[in-house]
Amino acid sequence: MTREQLEASHLIGKGNERLCYVHPEDPSKVIKIAYRKYRDQNEIDAIYHEYLEKKGVDLTHINRCYGWIEIDDTRGLVFERVVNHDGSTPKTIKNMILDGDFAQADVVPYLNELQQYLEDTKIIFADVSESNILCCKNEHGDYRLVIIDGLGSRHLGLKFWLQCHCPPYIHYKLWKQWTKLLYRVDVCFQRRADAVASSGRQEGA
Ligand SMILES: Nc1ncnc2c1ncn2[C@@H]1O[C@H](COP(=O)(O)OP(=O)(O)O)[C@@H](O)[C@H]1O
Ligand SMILES: [Mg+2]
Repeated sequence: MTREQLEASHLIGKGNERLCYVHPEDPSKVIKIAYRKYRDQNEIDAIYHEYLEKKGVDLTHINRCYGWIEIDDTRGLVFERVVNHDGSTPKTIKNMILDGDFAQADVVPYLNELQQYLEDTKIIFADVSESNILCCKNEHGDYRLVIIDGLGSRHLGLKFWLQCHCPPYIHYKLWKQWTKLLYRVDVCFQRRADAVASSGRQEGA
């Protein structure tokens, strides 16, 4: 595939390191391509997803990875495209909270389900960010949280190896990352509450 073909396709999102396009030849997939070389998240994702698939883990709360695609002088990584039941792109959990779509009580069962899944599969959510979780809506109005980025490790090396092979370290890491995620979710709710309070003050003035 050429870069021109990729760039003509719909750009779904831009993270800190990668651009995420709809696959020009298959709209049920996305292609992620690095736009800056601070560390190679695609490289880590490719290795970690292959490891998970070999283990045969349940993929309910992560997006399947289909491997590399050559794009001119570089390459992109192909993933399953996460969509709502109507085909639209899900919002991140961050935007759901900041936009007022989720109250704190709404999010608790979804987070509990995700935590149980990570405990069962021993998948490490290394780059914990509320922007790396999509909220996928089904036809009944319920949500499934899907982690689309940040799995495995932030860097390749000893920690990455331990996260794949050392049960006590995996146990510790699962707990540590979950604590971080809950804190970050709380910060989003606080930001939402501050924004609501400040717009109330402006209306009252
Ligand atoms: N599998 C996917 N399906 C649909 N949208 C996605 C998918 N993966 C990423 N996105 C969108 O692209 C954005 C950036 O992707 P991400 O993988 O987080 O990039 P980065 O590694 O640079 O942070 C996400 O916030 C999300 O909006
Ligand atoms: Mg990201």
